[in-house]
Amino acid sequence: MKNNIESLVKKITNKDITVGVIGLGYVGLPLAVEFAKKGIKTIGFDTDENKISSLKNKINYIKDIDEQSIIEVIDNQALIPTGDFSLLQQCTGIFICVPTPFTPNKDPEIKFIIQATEDIAKYLQKGQVIILKSTTFPGTTEKYVLPILEKTGLNGGEDFYLAFSPERIDPGNKTWNTGNTPIVIGGINDESTELASLLHGLVVGKIKQVSSPSIAEMEKLLENIFRSVNIALVNELAQLCDRIGINIWEVVDAASTKPFGFMPFYPGPGIGGHCILIDPYYLAWMAREYDFVTKFIQLAAEINEDMPFYVEAMVVKEIAKQPITLKDAKVLLLGVAFKRDVDDLRHSPALKVAEILYNDGINNIEYYDPFIPEIKIKEIEKSSLPELTPELLKKQDIVIITTDHSDFDYEMIAKNSKVVIDSRNACKNVKDRSNIVLLGEGK
Ligand SMILES: NC(=O)c1ccc[n+]([C@@H]2O[C@H](COP(=O)([O-])OP(=O)(O)OC[C@H]3O[C@@H](n4cnc5c(N)ncnc54)[C@H](O)[C@@H]3O)[C@@H](O)[C@H]2O)c1
Repeated sequence: MKNNIESLVKKITNKDITVGVIGLGYVGLPLAVEFAKKGIKTIGFDTDENKISSLKNKINYIKDIDEQSIIEVIDNQALIPTGDFSLLQQCTGIFICVPTPFTPNKDPEIKFIIQATEDIAKYLQKGQVIILKSTTFPGTTEKYVLPILEKTGLNGGEDFYLAFSPERIDPGNKTWNTGNTPIVIGGINDESTELASLLHGLVVGKIKQVSSPSIAEMEKLLENIFRSVNIALVNELAQLCDRIGINIWEVVDAASTKPFGFMPFYPGPGIGGHCILIDPYYLAWMAREYDFVTKFIQLAAEINEDMPFYVEAMVVKEIAKQPITLKDAKVLLLGVAFKRDVDDLRHSPALKVAEILYNDGINNIEYYDPFIPEIKIKEIEKSSLPELTPELLKKQDIVIITTDHSDFDYEMIAKNSKVVIDSRNACKNVKDRSNIVLLGEGK
């Protein structure tokens, strides 16, 4: 047993291993590329044939990864994309990076984790180190993943090693990336924690070890729910400031000068993406099993989910000031990605705003987003306008800044629009603010 671990430690330290990454999306592909760039043979698995064939053809589909890295790792066969899960047999380290969405009723949907684990179980080898990275509720690693793997007759923590290590990637963040962001790891036993740390440590900087997978699972939910409740706080204050006529953005900026005990969060049209929106519901679902209602967390989620409705009410109010009806109003959404400078549309509040506008009979909706070529609003397919010109802006009755991409020319937007509803304070530096209606300013 001791000898086995020692030889495994040696293999990992010498990078004499193959690493498998299951799920080549926003989390898995950057991770796989990091390993491959370190000269470690890496096999990337995905059930999406389009992703596999794109990668085989050296076509990158994740904005944060540079094209050249993909070309290099595919050309030198450091990264092998495949849909053939039998190749899992060759992997010493296996990372699970599959989606963890919620169901239409907002209960956790962990079927992708179960599927990936079953695929690993089919080919499970002694000495393999498995790390679950998908965000999930506490207990997933030990109550769901471990039993599936142990059904093979191999023992977790002895024959194979298992840990949870949450992902902290922040797409669009120019400072923090896979290589320099500290991570947390909790294994099912000490050996699992150590081996998982050694393996993951090949591509990350600092590692904080914790005493169990559940601590690591809960820690990730805390990180994201911390953001959710703080965003809800400023969203509520923004609505109050609108009534009083105080600019919430200036209030937050002023509070931010306090060098301790305060961290700025900003209001907006709602939250989207794969994490902050979903995670409160994962915890709330789990808490119910313990006869516990996460009241505060759910209230925050509720406030955040109301924000697209709040923006829609701002639009209706501005249309009412013009000599047009809702039916005839021409509305342009600027930016539909769920946050600035990303190409990720998942659960975007902009889509929600568009859907609510449609429901209220505002049907002349166009959008412009250089990162998102197509969207669906209530099953109606729309393409992004090819470019943003003064002529195009002049034709609109209302322009809504739903996502504040850095490349937008806000001076030009404000100058050529009748009314700009700014839900992100993107026009903060625009000189003539006479036609700008800022969320949380009370104008
Ligand atoms: N995107 C982020 O910024 C981020 C940050 C931190 C944590 N996370 C978490 O990481 C996990 C992955 O998120 P993501 O954004 O990379 O998702 P994603 O949808 O971009 O990628 C997941 C990939 O897994 C593939 N997949 C699904 N089932 C599979 C299976 N059984 N076998 C192989 N491949 C499979 C999908 O085809 C997809 O390519 C989620 O739990 C998410 O909450 C995401």
